[in-house]
Amino acid sequence: MKKRIVLLPGDGIGKEVMNSAKEVLSAIAEEFNHTFNFETHEIGGAAIDSYGTPLPETTVDACKQADAVLLGAVGGPKWDQNPSHLRPERGLLGIRKALDLYANLRPVKGFKKLLHASPLKEEVISGSDLLIVRELTGGLYFGTPSERRNNGQDVVDTLAYSRKEIERIVDKAFQAAQGRRGRLTSVDKANVLESSKLWREIVEEKKTQYPDVVVEHVLVDAAAMKLITNPTQFDVIVTENMFGDILSDEASVLTGSLGMLPSASLNESGVGLYEPAHGSAPDIAGKGIANPLAMILSAAMMLRYSFNLNDEAKLIEDAVEAILDSGFHTADLKVQNGRQVGTVEMTHLVVDYI
Ligand code: NAI
Ligand code: MG
Repeated sequence: MKKRIVLLPGDGIGKEVMNSAKEVLSAIAEEFNHTFNFETHEIGGAAIDSYGTPLPETTVDACKQADAVLLGAVGGPKWDQNPSHLRPERGLLGIRKALDLYANLRPVKGFKKLLHASPLKEEVISGSDLLIVRELTGGLYFGTPSERRNNGQDVVDTLAYSRKEIERIVDKAFQAAQGRRGRLTSVDKANVLESSKLWREIVEEKKTQYPDVVVEHVLVDAAAMKLITNPTQFDVIVTENMFGDILSDEASVLTGSLGMLPSASLNESGVGLYEPAHGSAPDIAGKGIANPLAMILSAAMMLRYSFNLNDEAKLIEDAVEAILDSGFHTADLKVQNGRQVGTVEMTHLVVDYI
C-alpha cells in the first residue's frame, strides 16, 4: 500500500514525539511492504515564526491532498502574549474546520501495568477499554446566536444540530462498535433537551441497519457517574460535542497519564487527523523525556481508521502493551520497580518489537 502522510510536528514536545511516530511508521512500512511518503509542514507557533500565521495556506493545501495527517501539539509561552489571531491554537482549530473533521474518536484503555497510576481503584478500572465518539463540529460550541444581550447582563448560547449532522456521527459510532465488542451507549439528555430527543430518535432508527450492535441510551449525568464507578460496562460511547468534551476528559483519569492517550478526528471523505491528547509540554520540551506513546498510538489509529491496516495497528498496540508489561516506562508514568527510559529509547523499544 502506498500512502501520503502529512506530518505537522508543531511546537515543544510535538516535534520530539513526531520523530518517534515517523520511526515507528517506517518500521511498519518495512515489515509489511508499504510505502509511506512523509511530508512535513508547519503549524502553530513554528508557523507563526516562519510565516507570520499559525496556519499557512501551504499547510492546509498539503493536508487536503494527503491520505492522512499526524499532528504533534501546538503552543508555548513564547506566543502566549500574542493577539488571538496569532495564537498557535488558532492553527489547530483552523485545520479541524478546514478538513471538516466532525468525528472525534478517543480510545481509553487501562494498561495493566499502569493501573495503580490512576487515582481510581484498581479493581474498578481493571479491564476498562472504551472508545468515546464525540461530535466535533456542531452543537453548543458552534450554534448561533451565542452572545451577550441587555448590556451584557443576559446571555444566550445555542445547541443546534441538523438531522444530517447527527446521522453521520451516529453511523461512525455504530461502525466503530462493529469493529470492537458490538456495544453502543448513546449519551444524551433526552429527558430535557429537544436536541437530545432527535438524537435518540435517530439512534433508534439507525439500529435496524446495525443488527449486530447492542444499543443502550444513558442520560449524561448518569453516564458521568458510571464512567468512573463501572467503566468496564462501556464499549463505544457516542455523544454530542460538549457532553463528549467533558466525558472524554473524565475518562482520561482511567489511564493514569496524558502521555498515553491518542485521538483521531475524521471527516466524511476519510482524511483523518491523528494527534495525542496532550499539549506541547513546555516544561519538559527539549529534555528528551517526553512520553512518545500517545503519539505512537495515534499513528496506530491512523493505520486502522484511515488505511484499514488493522494488523499493522494491532502490532503497534501490542508492542506498547508488551513494553509496559516488561517494566519500561517514561518519567511521567509511575511504575513500581520499573526501568525509566527517555523518548528515543522508548521509541527504539517499539521499533525493535515491530
Ligand atoms: P500539556 O498537555 O502540554 O502538559 C500538561 C502536563 O503534562 C505537563 O506537566 C507536561 O509536562 C505533561 N505532559 C504532557 N504530555 C506529556 C508527554 N507526552 N510525556 C510526558 N509528560 C507529558 O498541557 P499544558 O501544560 O496545559 O499546555 C502547554 C501548551 O500546550 C499550551 O500552550 C497549550 O495551549 C498547548 N496545548 C496544545 C494542545 C494541542 O496541540 N492539541 C492540547 C493542550 C494544550
Ligand atoms: Mg476539552
